[in-house]
Amino acid sequence: MANTILVGAQWGDEGKGKIIDFLTEKVDLVVRSQGGNNAGHTVIVGGKKYVLHLIPSGILRRGTMCVIGNGVVIDAMSLAEEIEGLRKQGIRVTKDNLLISDCAHLTLPHHRALDRAREIAKGKGKIGTTGRGIGPTYSDKASRVGLRTGDLLEPARFSERLKVRLTDGNVQLKMLGVAPLDFRKTTVEYLAAAKIIAPFLGNTVVYLHKAVTAKKQMLFEGAQGTFLDIDHGTYPYVTSSNTTSGGACTGSGVAPNRIDKVVGTMKAYTTRVGEGPFPSENEGLGEFLHGLGREFGATTGRARRCGWFDAVCTHYAAILNGIDELAVTNVDGLDTMKTIKVCVAYKLGRKTLEYPPTDLDTLAKCEAVYEEFDGWQKDTTAAKKWNDLPAKCRKYLQAIAKLSGAKLSIVSVGPGREQTIVL
Ligand code: GDP
Ligand code: IMO
Ligand code: MG
Repeated sequence: MANTILVGAQWGDEGKGKIIDFLTEKVDLVVRSQGGNNAGHTVIVGGKKYVLHLIPSGILRRGTMCVIGNGVVIDAMSLAEEIEGLRKQGIRVTKDNLLISDCAHLTLPHHRALDRAREIAKGKGKIGTTGRGIGPTYSDKASRVGLRTGDLLEPARFSERLKVRLTDGNVQLKMLGVAPLDFRKTTVEYLAAAKIIAPFLGNTVVYLHKAVTAKKQMLFEGAQGTFLDIDHGTYPYVTSSNTTSGGACTGSGVAPNRIDKVVGTMKAYTTRVGEGPFPSENEGLGEFLHGLGREFGATTGRARRCGWFDAVCTHYAAILNGIDELAVTNVDGLDTMKTIKVCVAYKLGRKTLEYPPTDLDTLAKCEAVYEEFDGWQKDTTAAKKWNDLPAKCRKYLQAIAKLSGAKLSIVSVGPGREQTIVL
């Protein structure tokens, strides 16, 4: 398999973890390049469930090297917990299969506290963040005051710098009416976690360069989704990193001309967690999917908002990311539907829009224009090949791929590895 970037084409939770795990069989390395532990990637192997937050989903396959690039933000405490948790589940996590950039910025305890306090202060206007401190961490990075994983290698220097950051954080927390964090306690806790992750740190740019030169195959595991991109998403209801394909290059130091392919992952319908406009949202569909026990967040457990497939969005995602191939997941979620709607355009007053407007208030005013498809009303979860799928299902899938403007290459009919059809 060529060097491939995999991105989410909607608002996150498209099933990236499952597709990454499936594709990992054919690659040498899996690389995370943006986001942090706001991500929750679910992989089910042999009936056992794993939820990855910071560690690339490739960790579940023996012999695959996992790299966390410079563009990721790392909460050392959360990462240490994730490593320990995987080990308890019998997954090997050693220096031989995990390398972490020493330039990745650290999410510190006050980032988390500030994220939560700011959300409360925003009241109704909240973003609906995961509360993992992602925004404040990237803010410090852009303000050039952040601490990086490399700082953990010098505990004395780290605690000195942490003191400066925590003092500043406590001033901000005080303004928000939140009790200050204790410096000593925070330092001890953080340095304990640092001990666990320190052995994994190194120069990931050089490592990846050597891997490219040695013609190793790499897979970039996108986190979040296109419409949560800080530049191209539904700002301000977005995350704080570039979730689109370009972010994989800046967040790893692998140059664009080393990338061969971009795969977009999308659900056969649409979901979104958190606030912000969602033109094809449909409460009835949400109730139906939640009733099946589906569509609860892997990180926060929140019920995801649900809606019909929005081809205006996925077509825009295909343009933004340069999507060559599509992986459509959760097809089985629509198995019992009599009629399935697809949003093919937006109506804004008398105007029909082909592309999502960049202005948020305008987007919020858009109404979805739907095309209807006959449901297949058959169980697809045991399908192994394209021709095992009902004709109406194949028609639907080809239609949404065509509307999105990319080639359909993978269809997922269940959360398991084996429930994957390659075209
Ligand atoms: P990610 O963040 O993009 O990796 O996606 P999440 O793991 O947050 O959410 C996707 C959910 O859909 C998880 O619970 C997956 O196990 C599940 N999933 C992925 N593909 C399929 C599928 O084809 N069918 C079903 N039923 N579940 C799927
Ligand atoms: P994966 O990788 C879905 C959403 C949050 C919120 C907004 C900002 O599992 O697809 P943040 O905590 O990043 O500041 O929150 O982004 N969000 C996600 N939604 N999947 C994710 O990751 C998400 N990561 C962040 O719900 O709306
Ligand atoms: Mg997720």
